[in-house]
Amino acid sequence: MTVSEDTLSQIGRIGVIPVVTLEDASQAAVLANALLAGGVSVIEITLRTPAALEAIRTIRFQVPQTLVGAGTVLSIEQGQAALDAGASFMVSPGYDDEFVDWCLDHALPVLPGTITPTEIMAARKRGLRVVKFFPADVYGGPRAIKTLSDPFPDMKYVPTGGITLTMLPDYLRLPSIFAVGGSWMASKTLIASGQFDEITHLARESTSLVAQSRQN
Ligand code: 3PG
Repeated sequence: MTVSEDTLSQIGRIGVIPVVTLEDASQAAVLANALLAGGVSVIEITLRTPAALEAIRTIRFQVPQTLVGAGTVLSIEQGQAALDAGASFMVSPGYDDEFVDWCLDHALPVLPGTITPTEIMAARKRGLRVVKFFPADVYGGPRAIKTLSDPFPDMKYVPTGGITLTMLPDYLRLPSIFAVGGSWMASKTLIASGQFDEITHLARESTSLVAQSRQN
């Protein structure tokens, strides 16, 4: 089977992926709607809290306009649980052949974390052309991605890790950027204090930076 291009191209069109760690699944729908109001119809729920699977299920069924994926997927078992909960794509912090093969067998779009040329080559060998670049800020940011584009001109990246709204334009201006991920639009602090208007505002600022970068 091949990876569902539709889901991936939707993510590419949106251009940003809010990486969200939710402590309370009852906030999932309001959060997804706040992001949607800012033009962001994709969300990655990290499997870092007991609330994560319920949050994925809630968004899948209560906010169907939003594409919900699972992040921090460390094993096939976690991937299966996220798939059962309704996740339509998978994100993992690192690269694992078995997990990537499992995703491909289930036609599930997967963004495995890669940093080194060796990991990128492993992902390429599996047919992937879009990978996560994590932790982006620590491992050289836009400069590193630009350098990797020389040997891998057919690869696109989703940098995440340490990215802020201010840094977003530096990533978006690179042709090899597929989308940019991070918690800056919906941080734990904003969610915990119920600042959903601010989340909408940050989502809108982010999507407008994506639109500007694509006009040029
Ligand atoms: C991820 O899993 O992609 C990161 O935890 C997001 O990183 P950030 O919180 O630094 O944006």
